[in-house]
Amino acid sequence: MLLADSGEDRLSAREIDFIAQRDGFYLGTVSEDGWPYVQYRGGPTGFLKVIDDATLAYADFRGNMQLLSTGNIGHDDRVSLFFMDYAHRRRLKILARAEIIDGRDDPALLKRLSDPSYAAKPERAFVLHVEAFDWNCPQHITPRFTEAEIATRERALRDRIAALESQLNQLASSAG
Ligand SMILES: Cc1cc2nc3c(=O)[nH]c(=O)nc-3n(C[C@H](O)[C@H](O)[C@H](O)COP(=O)(O)O)c2cc1C
Repeated sequence: MLLADSGEDRLSAREIDFIAQRDGFYLGTVSEDGWPYVQYRGGPTGFLKVIDDATLAYADFRGNMQLLSTGNIGHDDRVSLFFMDYAHRRRLKILARAEIIDGRDDPALLKRLSDPSYAAKPERAFVLHVEAFDWNCPQHITPRFTEAEIATRERALRDRIAALESQLNQLASSAG
């Protein structure tokens, strides 16, 4: 068993829905001399695609030309993914084996993973074969909200303010 209390290796609807709602995650790889290396990966919500209940994939870019994650995976395919949902105080960790597929070898896959509205050209696909996952307890996760999440929660308030302002304007003009 790779993760304490886990033993799970097939993603259920709960994990699949959770991943589809994420706009970023942390990717841990193992360097050639054994150092853990963590990089953040972000994109439009759902950019990390669930191919099936044991496979995830996303499009990768050339980036800063260091290609550290790519290089690390070249010698050790074990990766750790860490997802945070601050708003709902949820976190999920996944262990997987990464396969890097050059876009020229599978253009259809890269197209499927790419966001057509994003101008940057993806070069390769990161395909992640899930070996284990586990949820952590919500304790100590401070709720934080993205601009989009705040906007959703503010909408009712803004609508109410607009309705009250309109009533106020009507009262002011009828009084005048
Ligand atoms: C044109 C371009 C687009 C990128 N788009 C993204 C992106 O959508 N999401 C992301 O996390 N990083 C993006 N990056 C950054 C790289 O993919 C990557 O995070 C960076 O090279 C560091 O990776 P490394 O630490 O594994 O070397 C982009 C980089 C470039 C040059």
